[in-house]
Amino acid sequence: MEPTAVTASRWSIDQIGYERIDVERVRPRDDLFLLVCSAAFIESGSDTYTRNLIEYFAGDGEFGAWLQQRWEPEELQHGHALRRYLQHVWTEFDWDAAYAGFFAEYAQLCVIDELEPTRGQELVARCIVETGTTTYYQALGALAAQADEPVLRDLASRIRTDEVGHYKHFYHQFLKYREREGLGRAQVVAAIWRRVAELRRSDSDIALRHAARALGGNADAIRRHLHAQLAQGYPVELAVRMALKPLRLRAGLQRCAERPLGAVMRRLMH
Ligand SMILES: [Fe+2]
Ligand SMILES: [Fe+2]
Repeated sequence: MEPTAVTASRWSIDQIGYERIDVERVRPRDDLFLLVCSAAFIESGSDTYTRNLIEYFAGDGEFGAWLQQRWEPEELQHGHALRRYLQHVWTEFDWDAAYAGFFAEYAQLCVIDELEPTRGQELVARCIVETGTTTYYQALGALAAQADEPVLRDLASRIRTDEVGHYKHFYHQFLKYREREGLGRAQVVAAIWRRVAELRRSDSDIALRHAARALGGNADAIRRHLHAQLAQGYPVELAVRMALKPLRLRAGLQRCAERPLGAVMRRLMH
């Protein structure tokens, strides 16, 4: 099932048409700055997390190779491409200073204690993270389309495709470890729950706070406004389907679980 050779990324930064951005029109959009900036922060810090994961999965050569040769370069490329977007539009933005502020706080989260108790459960957590990134970039792409900004829309769509690929790879690895560890549904639910709860208070919050600081705005007011903006194009059904997949529910049961979870997520978004 798993690819034996690790292939290179499907796209490169040279393919992004930064020169086609209508800079004067995008510059006043604080919402786009904040969404691109906070994503760029988190993506650019990926190597810290990868190292922890590689250590955690020591001995699993094939998976380790994929993390190192495919996953990490792709996440870093996301960070690089988003950062170039920021620097192209908001030329006065001091990336180095802003990123240093973000990273000082973020690095404290990326310690090995924060990983799940078993490898199978950690892979469930990774599926939730990739669900979050997939749906984030889908919503960002929708917002860019609404703002009539085709370059950002194209970039968001390329990144989204990579995130779906990451999800699939982590999911297949999960199936392997689920078997090996004899993981039950309760342990999977626990891992999903822990990670979903954590999503709300960790990375994205820190990233957004530091992005807002770069703008000099009130972080709380900005956050509320952004959630409302992003919620319009947020694919709730997709998020719920991806988040529940590791539970491997029968179709009927899955449908029963989807509706209430979708309602909870919609409430969280507002
Ligand atoms: Fe990414
Ligand atoms: Fe990813």
